Amino acid sequence: MSRTASLVSIEDLRQLARRRTPRPFWGYLESGSFEQLTLAANRRDLDVLTLRPRVLADIGPRDLRTTVLGQPCRLPVAVAPIGLSGLIRADGEIHAARAAEAEGVPYTLSTVSTCSMEEVRAAVQQPFWFQLYMMRDRDVVRSLMERAHAVGCTALMVTVDLAVQAPRLPDERHGMTLRPRLLNLPNVLDFIRKPGWAWRFLNTPRRNFGNLVDYAPHGKALQQVSAWVADQLDPTLGWADLDWIRAQWPGHLIVKGIMDAGDARRAVQAGADAIVVSNHGGRQLDGAPSSIAVLPSIVQALAGDAEVWFDSGVRSGTDVLKALALGARTALLGRAVLYGLAALGEPGVRHALGLIRRELDVSMALCGLSQLDQINASALWSAPDVTPCPIPRRQ
Ligand SMILES: Cc1cc2nc3c(=O)[nH]c(=O)nc-3n(C[C@H](O)[C@H](O)[C@H](O)COP(=O)(O)O)c2cc1C
Repeated sequence: MSRTASLVSIEDLRQLARRRTPRPFWGYLESGSFEQLTLAANRRDLDVLTLRPRVLADIGPRDLRTTVLGQPCRLPVAVAPIGLSGLIRADGEIHAARAAEAEGVPYTLSTVSTCSMEEVRAAVQQPFWFQLYMMRDRDVVRSLMERAHAVGCTALMVTVDLAVQAPRLPDERHGMTLRPRLLNLPNVLDFIRKPGWAWRFLNTPRRNFGNLVDYAPHGKALQQVSAWVADQLDPTLGWADLDWIRAQWPGHLIVKGIMDAGDARRAVQAGADAIVVSNHGGRQLDGAPSSIAVLPSIVQALAGDAEVWFDSGVRSGTDVLKALALGARTALLGRAVLYGLAALGEPGVRHALGLIRRELDVSMALCGLSQLDQINASALWSAPDVTPCPIPRRQ
């Protein structure tokens, strides 16, 4: 029996991942900010959406292929940017990027990855997307964009919801903060109890901020680079900075972390080709609505002027179908693929994507749909508890 045969859901992968991941990194992966209300809302609001079963609809073979920003994808999903994936699984970004490529879906590399963009590029055939955090030092930002262009990244995904980082309380308890304090007794004992994780981690050279280590002025140790990264978060970020990025970056521009229709319109005015409706997986503003509750208002506000993508809370292909029914073109997968990565590395990410594919395929079929372009709001039965917030239009 193959290693994945008994792992029949993302939740199965999650359970295995939990057993195999040391507690500071499990907390980092799993937590939301503060009271985790928004983290919970993301799941709750997807769960209460119900689908409309349709029968005798000649569903034949289903076609799950799509394009995003003109790029062909075998599924309407992409892998979301995840910082420090290499702490969750050694060389995590390389494993995840290879798995995404094998499954025919786009991969997004985080600014704060452990493997550098050059290392990831050397490990895959196709270019990936690069996610950019704006940093105080604009020369660093310019250099990151130049490097991303040089390795062939076709799209830049600028994350705009992290001008200030919200605390995740388990991370603070475990010392997994921007100024890490990881080598305390409970953590070290836990590393020893996870020998597979520890062996892999000790046998990779990639244990730092791969994209950023060479810019850090006060030393290359993880502590020192982390402290520099923390100081680089820029709370003065404004729309002019997005205009500046647009002027520098020649490829597609995606703006991630939009939860307000006025902000969505402004991002499109700044030249965004796509926006990602996202509350950062419940890791930033605690008390914000779920992404799925906000999605329809943003789809409506943009009226087709840019692609609208969705993330936060997706754990199944059925969730992907719900997001598409509410107008998203594609869904980014964060923790759903991270569970696969933490559990089994590259085969785990492939397995997670395979599970999502199967669930989407079956759910579409039972809704009487065989093509993605047939999906619209009529695939939903009703959504009594998910009413998009009235969002005031800004001038
Ligand atoms: C462990 C972890 C690290 C993340 N790192 C980043 C990052 O470096 N850049 C970014 O734009 N978003 C980051 N995110 C947010 C994801 O890109 C995505 O928006 C979120 O995970 C979606 O929610 P989900 O995990 O419920 O699918 C991170 C999320 C997690 C769970």
